[in-house]
Formats: sequence, structure tokens, C-alpha cells
Amino acid sequence: MEKTVHVPLDGRAYDVVVGPGLLAQAGTRIAPLLRRRKVAVVTDENVSALHLETLRAGLASAGIEMEALALPPGESTKRWPQFERTVEWLLEQKVERNDVVIAFGGGVIGDLVGFAAAVLRRGVRFVQIPTSLLAQVDSSVGGKTGINAPQGKNLIGAFHQPALVLADTEVLGTLTARDFLAGYGEVVKYGLLGDSDFFDWLETNGPALAAGDMATRVEAVAHSVQMKADIVVRDETEQGDRALLNLGHTFCHALEAATGYSDRLFHGEGVAIGCALAFELSSRLGLCSQEDPSRVRAHIKAMGMKTDLADIPGDLPSAEALVELMGQDKKVVDGQLRFILARGIGEAFVTADVPKEAVLGVLKDALAAR
Ligand code: GLY
Repeated sequence: MEKTVHVPLDGRAYDVVVGPGLLAQAGTRIAPLLRRRKVAVVTDENVSALHLETLRAGLASAGIEMEALALPPGESTKRWPQFERTVEWLLEQKVERNDVVIAFGGGVIGDLVGFAAAVLRRGVRFVQIPTSLLAQVDSSVGGKTGINAPQGKNLIGAFHQPALVLADTEVLGTLTARDFLAGYGEVVKYGLLGDSDFFDWLETNGPALAAGDMATRVEAVAHSVQMKADIVVRDETEQGDRALLNLGHTFCHALEAATGYSDRLFHGEGVAIGCALAFELSSRLGLCSQEDPSRVRAHIKAMGMKTDLADIPGDLPSAEALVELMGQDKKVVDGQLRFILARGIGEAFVTADVPKEAVLGVLKDALAAR
């Protein structure tokens, strides 16, 4: 059932292995990368309580010793204080240039530990063992690492590709339904941005996947990773095509900022709502058919996910204020908002040519329906 996606970056190629039971095999998978049989693992307290002993046993079965640091869970960890703590802990563990650091957790851990590995002794290799669906299909692959600044999310960081990614799909079984579905928002995004057959497949197989069917989970994660790998290989540092991965994200960032990055709206939920809004905008601009946004919304709704602005609890600011928040996104270039729009399902493209009035119109109608 296992699948491997190869990411063929020049001089920094790596594999993403997707399948159940990989934690138990972590030792044999990681051993070929090691000069000495010792690794430093950074995780969070939740993942540690659920899965650290399985990883420890998996490493020990290949004679690999590990030391572990468990950080507090949550987005607020992704800042200088815990970053400093992590780097200093890695130095205390005497991690050397040829050693390997393991990032074991969701997106927060992957981003922070990847950045720590990027700067530690001017760069050590690291292995991603992502434990959330969102991290498995997006943040653990592609080498974007970093932490948040008071001025905005992910503003401090580096491109640093992992040496290996082990996406154990069995671990997804301990996620809450809400966390799992939030990650599924990023899976849907891949179908919408570049592969209508995959979107068709998700319409059919999404319910089995959410219910825990392992073969469909492996297929969905591996297909998403393959699509991401293809894009990253074409445009590692986001000069062009990589921005397609931000479908739904311009709306999402404004909604996340408006809800204070709180549990009113998880990132993946915002991505799903943002994708629906991006298709609505595309349809109003005459780029795609009117049926497309309805089909996007229907699938998101059928999966039991937040679909509309009405599904976000509490107050939201005006359409004008939301557009203002979009302007603070780090993807603004020369003050121009860049949008990912679509000519149909699976046919997204990047443009800076979007009339503000059209964006305001979409948001005003979406707010009025609340
Ligand atoms: N998460 C978007 C990217 O990796 O480019």
C-alpha cells in the first residue's frame, strides 16, 4: 500500500514515503542517512504523548538512539523564544554538521525545526515526520521553513529541503475530525488547482477517506505530494508557478487575520472557504463556468467542512476591511495583490490583474448571506 514520491531537486533530491506503519520502521528508513546511530527529535507535547514511544522503538530497532525535546503545542510556539530554545537544545545535544535532526509533528514543528536545521552550524540535514494531514500534503514537502513575526506569519525563514519525509498515514487516526478535515482542505486545493480527474476522484472517495480507509488515504496523500513535488521542482523559490499552491490563500489569510488566528477558523478551513471564493470570483470575471463554484462548494459541504463565511462563528469585519487585510499578505508584490484564479476545475493561474471592485462584490455578497 506504501507509495514513494521522489523530489528530484538538483543535489538535494529526496523521497517522500507515504504509508501506514512508518514510525515503527523509522530506524531502517533513516539509518542510510546517518554517520552515527544517534538523532535529535523535536516534537510537541501532544504528539509526544501519543506517538513518541512508537518512534523511539522504531529507531531503536535499527540501533538508533534518540534524544527528544517536546515544545508546547500551537501556533504561538512558532516564534523566536521557542526557536531559540530549540537551537540551543540542539547544540547542547552536540548535534554535528553530519548529524540529522528530526521534525516530528504538524506544520508548526516542521516549519520551526526545519528553520533551526537550516541555521544550526550553517545547516544540518533534517527529516520530516509529519503527523497532521496538512503537514503531510503541504508543509513537510518543498523546503519552506520559518517562524512568525509580530508583523505577520512566516516572515522569518529559509528554504531548506528535508533529506527524507516519512508520512505515516496511520498516525492520522489520532487527529480530531476537525483537524483531519482542515488538512483535507489542502488536498481539495490540489485537485482544484491542477488536476480535475483528482477532484472527480475526491468527490467519489472523499467520504471513505474521511472515514479512515487507509488505501484511499495513502492515494490522496501521495497524489497531493506528487503534485506539490512537480511544482516545487519547476519553481523552488516561488518566482512563478509555486504561487499556484496558494489557491484560496489570499481570502484565507484575510479571514485568518480577521479571526485573530484563533480556533474560530483553522488554516485548512480557511483554505477551503478561500478556494470556494476564488472560484466564485473567477466565475464572476467570466473566467470559468457558473457551475464550477457550485461544484466546489457542494463537495466541501458534503465533506462536512466549513464552506461559507456563514460557517465562521462570531463577527467578521466589512468587505472593505477584509480587502485591506489581504493587502498585508506577504505575497503582495509592488503593492499589487496577486490572486490565483481558475479557468475551470484543475486550471488555476496566477494574476495581478483583478479589479478590487470584483473582490469587494464577492465578499459583500458572502457577508450578506451570513
Ligand atoms: N505552502 C505553499 C508552498 O509550499 O509553497
